[in-house]
This record gives sequence, C-alpha cells and structure tokens, in this order.
Amino acid sequence: MPRAIISPSVLASDFGQLTAECKRMIKGGAEWLHMDVMDGHFVPNITMGAPILACVSKGVPGIFMDCHMMVAEPEKWVNDIADAGGALYCFHLEATADPLSVIKAIRARNMKVGVAISPDTPSTAVTDEIANAADMLLVMTVYPGRGGQKFLDRCVPKVAELRARFPDKDIEVDGGVGPNTIGACAHAGSNVIVAGTAIFGAPNPDEVIATLKATVNS
Ligand code: DX5
Ligand code: ZN
Repeated sequence: MPRAIISPSVLASDFGQLTAECKRMIKGGAEWLHMDVMDGHFVPNITMGAPILACVSKGVPGIFMDCHMMVAEPEKWVNDIADAGGALYCFHLEATADPLSVIKAIRARNMKVGVAISPDTPSTAVTDEIANAADMLLVMTVYPGRGGQKFLDRCVPKVAELRARFPDKDIEVDGGVGPNTIGACAHAGSNVIVAGTAIFGAPNPDEVIATLKATVNS
C-alpha cells in the first residue's frame, strides 16, 4: 500500500486564521491540507473558492493543497484552481458526463488528478480507464456538503474493492474519519486520510494526526 498521507480538512478550522491554521497542521505532521470547495449547486453549501486558496498558497509556502471540488461543473474551475496554487484537483464522477476530458484539462495544468465517488455511487463507476488516468481515488464516507457528519460504514467495502483493483493508487477517505473509524479505513486499504472535526476539534491535533498515520502504517 502507498504511504500514509494525512490531509486535515480546513472546513473545521477557524477561517479567520486560515493560513495560521494550515501552518499549525503542517507543523503537527500533516502532509497535505484538504480544501473543500463547494459551489451551492453540486451541494447546497458554499465554502471557499480560488481567491481564498490563492491567499493560502501565498501565505503558506510549499503547502500541498488537496482541492476537493464539490462543484457541478468541474471543468469550469480547473484554470482558477491551478492559478491559485492547487496541487491536486479532485472532482466528483457524479458531476460530469465526460470524466476523461476533465482529467485531461487538469493534467494540462500540471495538477495531480483525484476522482471522487459519493456514498451512493458504486466502486464500479470508477472504470479502469478513469482510475489509470488518475493519481488518487476518493471514497466519500459521508454525503458531501458539510463537516461533522457520522461516518457511513457501508462505504468501507468500496475502499477494499478499489484497493484490490489498484494496489498502488492513492485511495482517500473523507467524512467522519477519526481515531474511532480509522481502523476500518486503513484495514480496507485507504492511505490518504481526511479528517476535519476529529483533528481541529481535538485538544491536541498533533496526537490525532500521529494516531491516524500510525494506524495506516501499521
Ligand atoms: C464533506 C467534506 C469533508 C468534511 C470532513 O463534504 O468533503 O472534507 O469537511 O469533515 P469531518 O472530518 O468533520 O467529517
Ligand atoms: Zn472533502
């Protein structure tokens, strides 16, 4: 399995101190920062977009922004996110009829490619062709749209199915992940771990980051 990567979701951070919060996570052992971009169409909420990400990449040199695009037209934001310093552009399969052309557009801007599936989308929606063209597959363990939801156990088998098909691919889990649910995720084969509430809500986020990482690497 590829190495463990911890990607704290800044959705659970203090947005008024966003750059400081990102620095705090990196200092605490996080490899990536998970940036949840919501457009009010693909999901009901609106969070942040490229102008905010640009401030973060300027304020936190070297940051790896794992951009989770919960947007209805993923092709529309590729250039803006690339210009803002996005390192990985992860779009939802449910949001496009032509995933391969979205992937091509992301590649053209030298970002890594992530492909996400929501809880009701089967792992078979990720065809070999799509997976082989992507760097990372994201299995949502809650319905996209907001932080702090309960982990959906029924999504875990999809992680195992994808890990069996793609032994070397980064597989991310996102939603309700923390010390109580990481065991199932890691056992199923996930190596990229998103956690918002569990990290930012903890008295000692560094400890949570270390626990998540140790569980994946064990
Ligand atoms: C949900 C977002 C998640 C969320 C995770 O729509 O994609 O990244 O912020 O937050 P927690 O870990 O609190 O479930
Ligand atoms: Zn997310």
